[in-house]
This record gives sequence, C-alpha cells and structure tokens, in this order.
Amino acid sequence: MENPFKYGGIVRGPYFADRTEELAELIREMTNLGRVFLISPRRLGKTCLLFNLMDRLRDLGFAIAYLDLNAYPDIRSFAAALTQVTCKALESNTERLIKILSGLQRLRPKVSVGHDGSLTGTVEVATEDKDALPALLEGMHYAEKLARKKGQRLVIVIDEFSDLPKYDGQTIEKALRAEIQQHEHIGYILSGSEQSVILSMTRDRKRAFYKLGRIMELGPIDRGSYAYFIFGWLHKGKYRFEKRDLEKIFELGKDVPHNIQRLCHNMLELARDSREITPDLIEKLPRVIAQQDSPHFEVLWQAASQLQRALLMALSKEPDAKPFSREFQLTYGIGPSSSIKASLDSLTKKGILFKTLKGAYQFSDTFMPYWISDLKRTEK
Ligand SMILES: Nc1ncnc2c1ncn2[C@@H]1O[C@H](COP(=O)(O)OP(=O)(O)O)[C@@H](O)[C@H]1O
Ligand SMILES: [Mg+2]
Repeated sequence: MENPFKYGGIVRGPYFADRTEELAELIREMTNLGRVFLISPRRLGKTCLLFNLMDRLRDLGFAIAYLDLNAYPDIRSFAAALTQVTCKALESNTERLIKILSGLQRLRPKVSVGHDGSLTGTVEVATEDKDALPALLEGMHYAEKLARKKGQRLVIVIDEFSDLPKYDGQTIEKALRAEIQQHEHIGYILSGSEQSVILSMTRDRKRAFYKLGRIMELGPIDRGSYAYFIFGWLHKGKYRFEKRDLEKIFELGKDVPHNIQRLCHNMLELARDSREITPDLIEKLPRVIAQQDSPHFEVLWQAASQLQRALLMALSKEPDAKPFSREFQLTYGIGPSSSIKASLDSLTKKGILFKTLKGAYQFSDTFMPYWISDLKRTEK
C-alpha cells in the first residue's frame, strides 16, 4: 500500500480527511453566490479544503476560477491571470475564448499553438502599469457579463488574498469592493493565512472591505472524524494499534492537519515491517521529523543572533512564556524588553515565529522546538 498520509501538497478524494461540515457550509454559501473570507493560520488546510470544494461545486454545475495571489507580484499579472481563469471557466471552447479575449480593451490576447496544433489563449495587460487596475476591473466586469449571458453561476476563489496590500493598498481595495458589489452571478471566496490582515480589512469601518462578506475561521479538523479517517487506513494496511494511543498524535501535532499528516506518514513508515504501532513509536515521531528537517533548521539557526537564539531556546522550553515579563527576563537572563521586541519581530518576519491573534509568539514549525532541545543536549 502506498503511504496514504500525504503532506506538502493538495490532498484530494480518499486522501482528504473529513471537513464535511465546512464543505456543506461553503456549498450553501456559494449556492447563494455569497462572499466569504476564509481565514486560518498557515497549514490548517484552507487550500486543500478549497480544492475539494471546487471539485464538488464543479459537479454541481458551477463554473470555477481559482488563483493564488502569491503567484502574482503586481496588479498587471494579477489582472491578466484573473481575466484568463474566469473567462476560461465560462468558455471551454478555445476559439470562442480567444474571440472573447480579443474584445477586451485593456487586455491583449496571446495565442500559442501546441505540438498537436491545439490553440491556447492567454492574456496580458496591453497598456502601461497605471492601467493595470482598470484592466483588472474590466476583466472582472466582463466575467460578470459573460456569466449572466451564459446563465452560469461562477465561483471565484482567490487564495492568499491577505497578500493584497502588497499592491498599492487602499486604491485597489476600494475599486475591488465597488466591482464585486455589483456582481450578481459570481460568488467569492477570499482566503488568507495572515488573519490579522484580513480581519482589519473587513472589520475596520474605514477600510473598503468592511462587511463585504462573512468571515469563516477555519479551525482544526474534528478529532473524532480525523481519527476515523486514520483508523480506516491503518485497518486497510493491516497495522495493529490501540485506538486510544492515537489520541497522542493530535496532541503532538497540535491539531494542525499538516502536522498530523506528517506524523501519520512517518508512523506508517516506521511500522512498515513490524505492522505494530506502539506508544513508544508515536512518542518518537516528532524527533524523527525534526531530524529530517535538520538542514533547514540549521540554516535558520546559523542566521539567528545570540539574543534570538536565547529567545528560541526559552520558547522551546516554555511555549506559553511571556517574553516581556520581568520573570521571563530574569529566568533566562535576557533583556531589555525593547531588544526582545526587536528580536521577536525579526524572528516573525523570517517566519520562524508567528504572532497569534492574542499576541503570543509561537513556532511556525511545530517540530522546530524538538530540534532545538536536541541541540542543547548535544552542545552540553
Ligand atoms: N482535510 C485534510 N485531510 C488530510 N490532510 C490535510 C487536510 N487538510 C490539510 N491537510 C494537510 O495539510 C497540509 C497543508 O494544508 P493546506 O491546505 O496547504 O493549508 P493552508 O492552505 O491553510 O496553508 C496539506 O499538504 C495536507 O497534507
Ligand atoms: Mg494555502
């Protein structure tokens, strides 16, 4: 049996665990062509959920356009990509698609011919950079018009939407809102990992996206359903295990699907010969994974300052520590608060730590603290 616990990419079909309620809710929202902001920290499963949702919506007859804002450094490329995916979702015939694209004013179609003589139509922004935003709006406007004409319901999914402020901020937000509000044939899902960015975009009265749609916070996968999914695969592979031992996996992985998948993947590999899953084996997993990622942690560690290292060590020992408290600074012999703040900011910027909505600092990678504590052992 091929290892069924996949991580790092998009998991679909039988490899995708649960999310039944979330899928049902999003399907309901899109049936009404609503607008949803989907938020969660990284690796909680937004992209996987969206791909599985899109599979379902396609079966239900929706036209689907997806793009990840990460991939588009400027409005120009975003405008071209969005126009292309929306038009393509609504028109599958390449020749008609190219005809549609040639009708646009600010976007120029590019036609390429494949080895087999097949045509592909793409677009690029035809004019100067300052026209990129009008081009984007023209593309979106056209998608609405086309959806109306075809009597099709279109769902536009924009992943990592919290990247939007990297363009020119407020202007694009206002323009997008005005455009989206007019759409009656398009549902929107705007998803993002920078939760604070999306929350301030949508909850601040002065910002353009204020109350444009509902906010759905994606939580962890329900433990009961996830456990059922895991048991299913273990039975299929004829592994011996005690159900209650597996509870530990959720604790070790902090209920983050990416971690759970990785723990289960390694668990299966380690038990491949014995076909027996024991509590000892489960306990070992985080260190096994930390070792696999050692080259990566090594690089981060080398680039960290003395104070940053001291902070990382402290946080790996005491995850709930309050770095700005006197007690913390006395215990670990570091300070003052201003340099601690600067170090934490820098570690956050590098993506080693992330700041929770409550203001606590946590490791972005759940397994890094295990690597750090092993490091201490070898340094002694
Ligand atoms: N429902 C799920 N079932 C199985 N694995 C999942 C599920 N959701 C997420 N994962 C795992 O977590 C990893 C990260 O998920 P992803 O959707 O990329 O998170 P996000 O987009 O929130 O950062 C995936 O590569 C996959 O291994
Ligand atoms: Mg994602």
